[in-house]
Amino acid sequence: MARDPRDILVVALDVDGIDAARDLVDRIGDQALWYKVGLELYSSGGPDVVRMLKDQGKRVFADLKLYDIPNTVSRAALCLANLGADIIDLHIQAGWDAITKTVTLLDEECDAASRPDLIGITVLTSATKLDEDDQPLTAEAMAIEAVRRADLGRRAGLSGVVAPTPAVAGIREKCGNDFKLLVPGIRPQGSAIGDQKWVATPASAVAAGACWIVVGRPINQADDPAGVAEKILEEMTGVECL
Ligand code: C5P
Repeated sequence: MARDPRDILVVALDVDGIDAARDLVDRIGDQALWYKVGLELYSSGGPDVVRMLKDQGKRVFADLKLYDIPNTVSRAALCLANLGADIIDLHIQAGWDAITKTVTLLDEECDAASRPDLIGITVLTSATKLDEDDQPLTAEAMAIEAVRRADLGRRAGLSGVVAPTPAVAGIREKCGNDFKLLVPGIRPQGSAIGDQKWVATPASAVAAGACWIVVGRPINQADDPAGVAEKILEEMTGVECL
């Protein structure tokens, strides 16, 4: 079944303040419904950024990659849920107790209709080399670890994970079709790869089982961000997905 591409595209608002964020959202207009607020923008613009996006009718992925003790992670997640975030993420490496406590707190405190999706970071693809003498992980080794952590997250109650492109098919197979995969490292046809190590096109990611795709620099550094977003929506139109 094909889905509305506007429900799939998440634009990474990787800018350094609320004014720049508002400007970019205005320029993109109706070509994007979902925005990702990451560490840079949240550190400069704070909760007002989420409020600004919600006031404009947008959906928000609060990509703060929570990683702390269970009490702290769960309470921070609840604050983000109360702000109106639609997706919140935490590190699966924060552990079973942090995940289950956060799932339980959101279940208890949020209305079913407005409860955000809680998703897990499997592996940071940029952190595959932890020591100066390490050999970087291969895509295969990284995918095996990502699948293992995704399955742990699923059993602990997460509704999905952030999935590196080489791990998408394996996570889909292990965790089933109801588990939601958010896939960064997406490059529209013909655009620069930049510092991303493993990339996929919008259509190939969706066909492989992405529920959402995250696109940053190809849109937010473009002269015509709305035009690039429109092209990405077109690339995904009619693609069969789960
Ligand atoms: O499309 P672009 O490379 O600019 O997107 C980068 C965004 O995706 C950043 O906000 C980054 O946090 C996120 N991300 C990533 N690679 C991962 C996971 C997340 O680039 N493996």
